[in-house]
Amino acid sequence: MSHSFLAPLAALLVNLAPLASHAPPTMHAVRIHEFGGAEVLKYEETPRPEPALGEILIKVHAAGVNPVDWKIRDGAFGTGTFPMILGYDVSGTVETVGEGTTRFKKGDEVFAYLFLQRGGGYAEYAAVAESIVAAKPSTIDHVHAAGVPLAALTAWQALGDVAKLTEGQTVLIHAGAGGVGHFAVQIAKARGATVIATASARNHDYLKSIGADKVIDYRAEKFEDVVRDADVVLDPIGGETQERSFGVIRKGGYLVSIVQPPNPQRLKEAGISGSVFLVRPDAGQLAQIARLIDAGKIKPHVSQTLPLAEAGKAHALSQAGGTRGKIVLSVVP
Ligand SMILES: NC(=O)c1ccc[n+]([C@@H]2O[C@H](COP(=O)([O-])OP(=O)(O)OC[C@H]3O[C@@H](n4cnc5c(N)ncnc54)[C@H](OP(=O)(O)O)[C@@H]3O)[C@@H](O)[C@H]2O)c1
Repeated sequence: MSHSFLAPLAALLVNLAPLASHAPPTMHAVRIHEFGGAEVLKYEETPRPEPALGEILIKVHAAGVNPVDWKIRDGAFGTGTFPMILGYDVSGTVETVGEGTTRFKKGDEVFAYLFLQRGGGYAEYAAVAESIVAAKPSTIDHVHAAGVPLAALTAWQALGDVAKLTEGQTVLIHAGAGGVGHFAVQIAKARGATVIATASARNHDYLKSIGADKVIDYRAEKFEDVVRDADVVLDPIGGETQERSFGVIRKGGYLVSIVQPPNPQRLKEAGISGSVFLVRPDAGQLAQIARLIDAGKIKPHVSQTLPLAEAGKAHALSQAGGTRGKIVLSVVP
């Protein structure tokens, strides 16, 4: 039987081939085109970014979810440029390197906390300034690595850079089982501090397993009835939790909040220092955190992994407020 009727089709395909190879590369990403609830998250095909001067293109294997993701999605931080790719934590492999980069090559396993102004993590590829990227810890997979950067850097900077927690001191960590809290507990222990953490009863055994010396069920007892003369309090809650924290800190101690500036008058009355701060990307600190992970001193906990296309479900889980450790989106299954 003759197949001559296929010839025109074959010719058409041959003619289309060069066109296809010159089409700009695309990828899948979760974008928003307006602020709003989880329904504004759209899983769609988008242009693939190109690494600019000083950037590397990361093939994202997993992207971490943080409360700031749904706060930005909601419009809590004001204006933005649409369409916007959310996501500030990635773990993956280097796909290509841009001009002016020196530290990484194709295939290297890396992780990073991306600038909040830019994002780009909820995607198959992300172009990232090489200066904020670190080598991924070798002892954990991409899903666990993606849960690390933003939350662990927050705990690291809050306790170390801001509150100057030192060996032998006592720290009260509110929300000890949360994303920031579970890293703070382990980082404080690694610094030789005594750690008191607040959490629901269901998280107490977990918190003891990662080093908390004392755990308080904030739903059943008042932490101010139990804690006295703490050197440092880490506050990821604000409101009345922060208000009630002034009285548990020794004179000269430090109240570091990541959600709400402490009232200057209340700080003065209590004879303590305090501040609120915003985490910043820092590849050097991320590398130190990676070393502690590979040494077994910090274990990232991932409670839920969802496919990238289910970012909305991940946001709903995060917004519900009871996450132990982290929620992560899997990009490469
Ligand atoms: N300023 C910054 O740079 C910065 C950086 C990171 C995060 N943040 C902010 O810090 C907050 C925490 O972030 P995250 O990632 O740790 O959140 P998260 O993982 O969603 O925190 C969940 C945890 O909060 C605990 N929790 C809720 N209410 C509590 C209370 N009254 N007392 C004690 N624990 C309580 C829950 O504990 P139980 O389940 O045990 O009840 C749960 O384990 C968010 O608002 C986030 O936007 C700010």
